[in-house]
Amino acid sequence: MKCLVIVESPSKCKIITNYLNSIPELVSLYGEFTVIASCGHIRDLKKKELSIDIVNDFKPDYAIETGTYFGTSTIYLSGLVKEFTYTVEINEKYARIAKKRFEQNYSDLKIECILGDSKVEVRKILNTIPSQNLNVIAYLDAHWIGKVPTSTEIEELYNWGSNWVAIVDDFKVDSDLGYGFDVHDGVEVDSSTVPNLPGLQIWVPSEMSKLETGAKRGTAYIFTETSIDQMTQGTLANLQRIR
Ligand SMILES: C[S@@+](CC[C@H](N)C(=O)[O-])C[C@H]1O[C@@H](n2cnc3c(N)ncnc32)[C@H](O)[C@@H]1O
Repeated sequence: MKCLVIVESPSKCKIITNYLNSIPELVSLYGEFTVIASCGHIRDLKKKELSIDIVNDFKPDYAIETGTYFGTSTIYLSGLVKEFTYTVEINEKYARIAKKRFEQNYSDLKIECILGDSKVEVRKILNTIPSQNLNVIAYLDAHWIGKVPTSTEIEELYNWGSNWVAIVDDFKVDSDLGYGFDVHDGVEVDSSTVPNLPGLQIWVPSEMSKLETGAKRGTAYIFTETSIDQMTQGTLANLQRIR
């Protein structure tokens, strides 16, 4: 028999594995322990399941993240795509810590961390990805400082092409205020941050916040006409369209 333990932080896997396997009574009861990391908060796994459904339908080649912070979501994203994950961080200290983390612990992953403003860097990244046959998943999480850059980021994706899906976290779900959302510089992260461009659709999880456990933060999924066509009935059953 083997026993699988899931922890939040990848940095703790090794030490917990060694600790558990060093207690003979535990090993004889449960067998050898394997410890893996969810690379994020356990409480968010449900939301991640939905993201996984979208990824399975859409099969992204590249990921672009805005707002690296310490890189936890970057590591998670890079496991979802075949090619590179680009992540942009405006704060020098955070970018330095994340880069070091990627180099030291995740050198096998194809991650490029860029120090800069996503309002400028997303376009540069997209210029290196041919828009014809390649799919991009964008995780737009560059909140916290000043004006939220989400509108510009989405415009850049739109100008690039149609093979993309964007996920915006901490998004205000007007029909269900039980979901938390971000407000920066007095501006709420809501549907007004998604430019009203032809063919763009905004979807949110269909499950009511009161039935969710954990952080209960809102998430929006932005689809184009091309990417929504690739969503299966199973995935769409978990979502509702708000625009
Ligand atoms: C919510 S945190 C990101 C968390 C990270 N994605 C995770 O899940 O671990 C937001 C990050 O966005 C960064 N940020 C804010 N505005 C930005 C911008 N215009 N361009 C790039 N990064 C930005 C902040 O410095 C902060 O590190």
